[in-house]
Amino acid sequence: MNEVIRAIETRRSVRKFTGAMIPRSELETILHAGSYAPNGMGSQEWRFTAVQDDMTLQRINESIRLALLTIPVIAETHPYVVSLIEKAENEQANFNYGASTYVIVSHQKDNGNAMPDSALALGYMMLAAHSMGIGSCWLNLLPGMAGLPIIRNLMTELGLPENHTVYASAVFGYAAKEPEAAEPRKDVVRIL
Ligand SMILES: Cc1cc2nc3c(=O)[nH]c(=O)nc-3n(C[C@H](O)[C@H](O)[C@H](O)COP(=O)(O)O)c2cc1C
Repeated sequence: MNEVIRAIETRRSVRKFTGAMIPRSELETILHAGSYAPNGMGSQEWRFTAVQDDMTLQRINESIRLALLTIPVIAETHPYVVSLIEKAENEQANFNYGASTYVIVSHQKDNGNAMPDSALALGYMMLAAHSMGIGSCWLNLLPGMAGLPIIRNLMTELGLPENHTVYASAVFGYAAKEPEAAEPRKDVVRIL
């Protein structure tokens, strides 16, 4: 089978990592792959911020934890969000699956292509990583809470431009165990 198709079929979200660091050159290859994703008008207005420094990883985790604690729980709050808020009450809670690398894709706030550009770029990175034996998992916590002051301040601290916001983020690292094969695909295709 074609290698790209094989990689697409075998990539799975990894939620337990060994903690081993991705070598710098391999991280650069992953980020480089993301930069080749299709993007509206070919503008390449995205930014890829990769974090491997332990203190900064902890800082991201703690900001996520504190941001979760600012979300009011009301009747309409989704039970999954409620479970995350409850988890955040534990000061030791880890929201990064113990991964060694966090990648944040930001883009211009007022650019209509920002969301698809960012998602495609991160998808390319995840696929490239998998082809290199590196696992990943998309994490929606940062983009989901990007409007909260705690997360905005963190993004500024990490050097994101003020006219940018987070549209996508994922953790990368070496899988602690072999992920299971994907579920059979739903019948969603119609060819006319
Ligand atoms: C937009 C989006 C948001 C996601 N958010 C999360 C998340 O916050 N936490 C998580 O563990 N996985 C998250 N995922 C991963 C999905 O749960 C996963 O891709 C899906 O269950 C299919 O499994 P697979 O990636 O192993 O094929 C997200 C994926 C996408 C594309």
